[in-house]
Amino acid sequence: MSHDEPAELFIHPDRNLAMELVRATEAAAIRATPWIGRGEKNAADGAAVDAMRKFLATVNFQGRVVIGEGEKDDAPMLYNGEIVGTGQGPQADIAVDPIDGTSLTAAGRSHAISMIAVADRGSMLDASSVFYMEKIVSSHEAIGVLDITKPVGENIRALAKAKNKPVEEIRVAVLDRPRHEQLIADIRAAGAGTRLIFDGDVAAGINAARHDTRIDMAIGIGGSPEGVATACAIKALGGFMQGRLSPQTDDEKQQGQDAGLLFDHVYELDGLVSSDNTIFVATGVTDGELVRGVRRQGPLISTESIVLRARSGTIRRVSADHQAAKWLDE
Ligand code: FBP
Repeated sequence: MSHDEPAELFIHPDRNLAMELVRATEAAAIRATPWIGRGEKNAADGAAVDAMRKFLATVNFQGRVVIGEGEKDDAPMLYNGEIVGTGQGPQADIAVDPIDGTSLTAAGRSHAISMIAVADRGSMLDASSVFYMEKIVSSHEAIGVLDITKPVGENIRALAKAKNKPVEEIRVAVLDRPRHEQLIADIRAAGAGTRLIFDGDVAAGINAARHDTRIDMAIGIGGSPEGVATACAIKALGGFMQGRLSPQTDDEKQQGQDAGLLFDHVYELDGLVSSDNTIFVATGVTDGELVRGVRRQGPLISTESIVLRARSGTIRRVSADHQAAKWLDE
C-alpha cells in the first residue's frame, strides 16, 4: 500500500467490513419477507430498517449516513447525518436503502433488494436535498462513448458500435413512468429494445454494467440517493455512469443550490463518489436478475447476496442458510 492512499478502509480487516455489511442486508431482507405481497409497503420498509439498524450497530466502523431514510425528524432511524457502527474502525460514508423496491415488495413483484454502499469518509455526493436525478449507466465499453447530454438514439448507436453488436440487440432499462414516455419512444425509434421496470433502478443500473445480463444500458430519471448508491457499485464494476440532478420544483432547486449542488451539470462517476475505495452489498428480497429473493426451505431461510469491492474489483455472490428458528425466536 502506498503512503498516499487516502483511507483507512484499505487496511486488511476492512475486507471483513464487506462481509459484515452483508449480515445487515441479509437481516433486512429476511425481516421484510413476511411483508412480501401484503400490500403494506411501510410495514415492509419498517421491518427492514429495524433489522438493518440493529446489525449495523455491531459493525466495526464509524459510518456517517449520507444517504438514509431522510431527515431526522421524519425518519427516526438511519437518518442522514447519523453515525452508525461500533464507533471503532474506519471512518466511512454510508448509503443505505433497507429496501429498494418497497412497492415491489408490497405487491409481491420481483427485483426488490436490500442494499448498503460504503466509501471513504467525505467522498459521496450528498444530493439528499434534490430527490430526482437523471442517470445513464452502462459497462466499461461505454466509457468515453456515452454522453448524457446527447440524444438517446445517438448514445444507443455509439454503444452498439463499442460493444460490437447490432443496435437491435441493445436493451435499455427504464423506469416505467409517464415522464419517460418520450424517452421510451426514442429508444424504440432508434431500433433498440426497452426493459421497462416498475421500480428499483439500483439493481437495473448494476445489471447494465455487468456482462452476464441482457441489459446494456440503464437510463432515465430516478431517485438521486439511488444514483449515488449505484455509483458506488459501478466503481467496483469498472463501469460507466453519469448523473444530472433533476429538481421537480423551484423550492427543491433552491434547497439544492443552498446545499452547493450543481444543475445543468454532468456529474461523472467521480463526482457522484470520489473515492475508488467503495463497497457495495445487496441481498435479494424478492427474486431478481441481480440476486435471488429470500426463501424458506424447511428449517432454513436462504438468502443470496452480491458483494462488490472496488479496491479488488471482486464480485462475490454469498449464499447463506440461516436457522429459521433463530429468526422466529427473536
Ligand atoms: P423505494 O423502494 O425506496 O420507494 O424506491 C423505489 C424506486 O423505484 C427507486 O429505485 C427509484 O430510484 C425511485 O423509486 C424512482 O422514484 P419514483 O417512483 O418517484 O419514480
